[in-house]
Amino acid sequence: MIIQNGKTIHLQTENTSYVMYRNAEEDLLNFHYGRKIADVDYTQDPELLREAFPVLVSTAKHPHLSSLPQEYPVYGRSEQRHPALQLVNALGNSILCLKYKEARVLEGQSFQMTGMPTLFGKADTLEVVLADDAVGIEVLLYYVVFEKYDVIARSAVIVNRGDASIELQSAYSANVDLPQGKYELIHFCGDWGRERGLERTVLSKGALVEICDNTGRGSRWNNPFVMVTTPGGDEQTGEVYGFNLIYSGNHSTVAQMDWAGRLRIQQGISDQSFSWVLEPGEEFLTPQSVICYSDSGFGQLSQKYHGLYQNHLMRSEWAKKQRPILLNSWEGCYFDFDQQKLLAMAEKAKAVGIELFVLDDGWFGKRDDAQSSLGDWVVNRKKLPEGLSGLAEKLNAMGLEFGLWFEPEMVSPDSQLCRAHPDWVVRVPQIEPIEYRYQWVLDLSKAEVCDYLVEAVSQVLQSANITYVKWDMNRIVCDAPFDGFHHCYVLGYYNIMSRLTERFPHILFEGCCSGGGRFDPGVLAYMPQIWASDNSDAIARLKIQYSTSMCYPLSAIGAHVSAVPNHQVGRVTSLKTRADVAYFGMFGYELDLAQLTDEELEQVKAQTAFAKGIQPLIREGIFHRLRSPFQGNECVWQVASEDQTHTFVMGCRVLSIIRNGRQLEDKVRLRGLDPEAVYEDVNTGKRYPGSLLMHRGIALRYAVQDFATCTLELKKV
Ligand code: DGJ
Repeated sequence: MIIQNGKTIHLQTENTSYVMYRNAEEDLLNFHYGRKIADVDYTQDPELLREAFPVLVSTAKHPHLSSLPQEYPVYGRSEQRHPALQLVNALGNSILCLKYKEARVLEGQSFQMTGMPTLFGKADTLEVVLADDAVGIEVLLYYVVFEKYDVIARSAVIVNRGDASIELQSAYSANVDLPQGKYELIHFCGDWGRERGLERTVLSKGALVEICDNTGRGSRWNNPFVMVTTPGGDEQTGEVYGFNLIYSGNHSTVAQMDWAGRLRIQQGISDQSFSWVLEPGEEFLTPQSVICYSDSGFGQLSQKYHGLYQNHLMRSEWAKKQRPILLNSWEGCYFDFDQQKLLAMAEKAKAVGIELFVLDDGWFGKRDDAQSSLGDWVVNRKKLPEGLSGLAEKLNAMGLEFGLWFEPEMVSPDSQLCRAHPDWVVRVPQIEPIEYRYQWVLDLSKAEVCDYLVEAVSQVLQSANITYVKWDMNRIVCDAPFDGFHHCYVLGYYNIMSRLTERFPHILFEGCCSGGGRFDPGVLAYMPQIWASDNSDAIARLKIQYSTSMCYPLSAIGAHVSAVPNHQVGRVTSLKTRADVAYFGMFGYELDLAQLTDEELEQVKAQTAFAKGIQPLIREGIFHRLRSPFQGNECVWQVASEDQTHTFVMGCRVLSIIRNGRQLEDKVRLRGLDPEAVYEDVNTGKRYPGSLLMHRGIALRYAVQDFATCTLELKKV
């Protein structure tokens, strides 16, 4: 709900209030963001304002903006903190003075942005116009209010209303100024095989912390999700603010605490190598920053993001559909395959209940290793003499669906495409572009390249019965030919993704990027699941999936059972452990089933049957993190159905702890159940009162071995 009350504008969600107001000088200031407060025109009570912002009612001619909480601050007059917007105006300086002009409430509309993914669905939207008439700049601030999820999605549009060009140097999507206090910042930093490590920083006065990623593809080193919490905030306690940018390129979140402990958070496109010229009449759109508040710790915050993304971000028809249990060929055979080998793998897969066979890298051009052929999306007839259609037909005849790997944004120097279009490579003239994994990046800022890729991929998809695509991307984007290029690249990527997903609405797209290097809501808008990491070791996955779930739903997390010793870390874990961890994501296998014993194959058969049955709960249930793998020897996850009738718990004890000849029990209190109800253990038939499960807890009993998992499935009687 959006309530305009005098000089106050109050955005209300189910549990939160976001209140802004304008002062006598028409500066747009923030009054409150957090727990819900009464709807009053707070500007009528100067005492309240004086208490909060002493300078506001001072007799000075100009308010000192540096000590006021602002909605969209600019640098250079009385504000010296980090600006949300920086530009060089026609006079060659960067002074701006934005004043409130008007506000409009767009009730129950579906907010959209040309060329960039946004949250969809009907929601009330506030549009506030700020302007600097002298410079000829107008800033439109958008606040889309998703009440049920306590979310406000913010973005800004910068318009050149003058008669000369201006140069944008940075334009953040959102600025939130929080009152004096103690705060900690949590961000998700990682690399290949160790995506989204959880880092925690105590914010200190006078410090400016920037969490950014300038690799050109979103989230290789830092995810565009951060949380700000009151000290000691944890899964169930503390006030927590979440910020997540719907963007798949260079991003930045700035946290700046001033001398008094007032905190400024900004989120948007990174200003690294960024510059954007706006000619008279032109505008620049910033991506949406999805901001959420919880007064009960990270768990509740995550649940809000999960629900929001399931219902208002993931557009694919697969978002809410049962996903097929897949076998991916990569770790099973890498580049070394032919049709016969694939069909043998597929036969085994079918026999154990797998539904989709995914052919990974190596099916095109002359690609027998990573050194060639990206760009030549033509089937390799030596490996697949009957082509993709022949393979698909055979798989379909066995009762399997067929999925295919692509890496369309890339080109190998050794490829026909590169020889035909050397000018399509991202590069600075006269300088040899940097090669990573023997590949260059295609210049998606060029419309002809995007058009070509849409057609090239479409042709392959039309050539055979393909129901799944793994969209990979295996290197950073560098050698940018001009400032602002990275944003153009992202727009090109979105252009391709929106055209392809519209053209092939029934195909399930899974994002991938050297594992989970591009795990962000921009990707999720098109692809409802993303491969979380090339590290498929179950123990490493505890941390990766745990931290990924802080913002992203389990239905978005690709998770596979792979071989042991694990190909990435060399660890040996049981087949049970590998599956138990992978159940908490979109489940599949990635190994050569021929290497398994008959007994193991029987186990896999039971696992696929279980995974199919439990998936609706995993996909749509409410996720609870009961023990953190970052804090101890155990990691415990629980999913409970919204109606509290069904729950599934998985615990993993990393290293065995023995006591009197058996493993020490770990008693966990379950969440999200009905305390008045009775629950039955699906496997043992034992019954427990909900109140006991929730308030006293239930013992998890692990086998006497390292890396042991145990599971518990309970249904309301
Ligand atoms: C990187 C991906 O993360 C892997 O899963 C696999 O698809 C390889 N690329 C193939 O080259």
